[in-house]
Amino acid sequence: MNTPDSTHTHFWWERAGLEYREGLLFFEGKPIDALVKRFGTPTFAYSAPRIESNIERLKRALSQTCLDAKLFYAMKANRFAPILSQMAGRGLCGIDACSPEEVMLASSCGFPEEAISYTATAVSNQDLERLLPFKGLHINCDAISTLRRLGKRDPGRAIGLRINPAMGVGYGENELLHYSGDATTKFGIYEEQFDEALAVAADYHLTITTLHLHTGCGYLNTQLPVWEKILLQAKDFAKKIPSLTALNLGGGLGVPHTQNDLPLDLNRWAEVIQRVFGDTRLTLQVEPGDYIVKDAGLLLLTANTVETRQSTRFVGVNAGFNIAIEPAIYALPFEPVVACLRPGKKEPVTVCGNINEALDIFIKSHPLPPILEEDTIALINAGAYASSMSSNHCMRGTFREILIR
Ligand SMILES: Cc1ncc(COP(=O)(O)O)c(C=O)c1O
Repeated sequence: MNTPDSTHTHFWWERAGLEYREGLLFFEGKPIDALVKRFGTPTFAYSAPRIESNIERLKRALSQTCLDAKLFYAMKANRFAPILSQMAGRGLCGIDACSPEEVMLASSCGFPEEAISYTATAVSNQDLERLLPFKGLHINCDAISTLRRLGKRDPGRAIGLRINPAMGVGYGENELLHYSGDATTKFGIYEEQFDEALAVAADYHLTITTLHLHTGCGYLNTQLPVWEKILLQAKDFAKKIPSLTALNLGGGLGVPHTQNDLPLDLNRWAEVIQRVFGDTRLTLQVEPGDYIVKDAGLLLLTANTVETRQSTRFVGVNAGFNIAIEPAIYALPFEPVVACLRPGKKEPVTVCGNINEALDIFIKSHPLPPILEEDTIALINAGAYASSMSSNHCMRGTFREILIR
């Protein structure tokens, strides 16, 4: 048997808590192979310390603005109850929820109603009726229809309005990750509807306390100039609402996906907010999902089929796009890494899953050290929008989740 290669130079994604030691991958001080022996594969492993340090880093950045700030975690990114309980128990942040079930789960994990902000789309009457018993819940409305139906049921309530500034940002040039922009989207109230929305709110004596926007996912430094333009646009909306006390800038902060990506510079990000809103007295709210949990998660898999077809070296693993869907639907690169660095030349491999669909490919032609069948592979950046978006397609939806503290 080959012994691990301990002579490697560092990979771009290595950090304290996720690194090779003597050629073996460690996650929060634990060898990956030991985790796999105990829990098997496929298993999502999440790092509690990383989640906490991501939150602390964000809070530090927010404290550089002169505005009071509140952080809500977008639980749609990952609703693993031990993660939510850790956040609630340690009072790390509030919750951004987008369905009544999410509100109930957050509540059952220990978040007080007042710490939950609700922003959803296509809100039904049944949704509203399930939400209204949560008296302390803050609801942002993303359509005039929602305003009207909420107003009928609970006139006089304090609410938020989600706007659509008709500009978006996302990872790279990826339009699939834009929630507003050139194409008309379902999210939020456009400028031309805004006066009507204010009038409907007034009809029902709804007090608009919060302006909300979320314009896309995964933005990094290159996108900050566009993001600043979006904030300027939002400021024009804000000026029209005298009762406004808070501004919710949504989520969307990205993490590096490849070695060509630089981490988001949170100082620059906070400077943008300060430049645009520093002269207001609004409370600032942000509700990131990706930034908090994505790089805190690994998906541990077993290579089961290593074979060259024509000139492509395929590595088949024991899970598919149904439990880690972002590469397939958003074309987001998901890097696989090996648990054991075998000595030898790197060669390009195509890592694919066990689902009978042509799009079931995690990455194409990606250089990896030698891999043998039964080796463990970890997909990095698997902490967000993977387990939470999983399906049982092909009846292969089974996986485990562990939170490493
Ligand atoms: C309204 C809203 N807020 C926050 C988020 C979290 O986004 P991200 O995980 O990119 O930070 C989303 C994601 O879709 C969203 O729709």
